[in-house]
Amino acid sequence: MISHGLSDEELQCIEEQLVEARSRAYCPYSKFHVGCVLFVRGTQDPYICGCNIENASFGATICAERVAMLKAMSNGCQERWTALAIIGDTSGPRDKVITPCGMCRQVMNEFIKDRETFPILMYSPDLKKLQVTNLNELMPMPFNL
Ligand code: THU
Repeated sequence: MISHGLSDEELQCIEEQLVEARSRAYCPYSKFHVGCVLFVRGTQDPYICGCNIENASFGATICAERVAMLKAMSNGCQERWTALAIIGDTSGPRDKVITPCGMCRQVMNEFIKDRETFPILMYSPDLKKLQVTNLNELMPMPFNL
């Protein structure tokens, strides 16, 4: 099992922020709400949130994970990433954790430096199940230039 190395307090904040982030999803087409929290310990804004933002031109839709990661990058918060957590919609299977899409895995591969120890927390919609993974597991043999 992969450990997340987060304190109970950090985990609780991540969970609260996840639910709030998910509530801000703009998903009139799929109606599938996703929330993401990129936790960057020790910074002024340690819980960087993302939600999925859809578009009538479907290809312009962006996932919650990429919103959170790109917000961090554009805010100048490019280092010291501690953990990334995601949660899916309650209309999906309640006991199943959400796993990130392929495009988000490729973006994670770009910015997450430690493929083995950086924890990726995948929650069930009701927060009752948590599965922790890493990039080696999620994306073996990644594309790199
Ligand atoms: N979605 C995410 O936000 N993250 C993922 O990892 C998978 C899919 C969003 C995109 C779209 O708005 C909706 O979920 C249905 O695919």
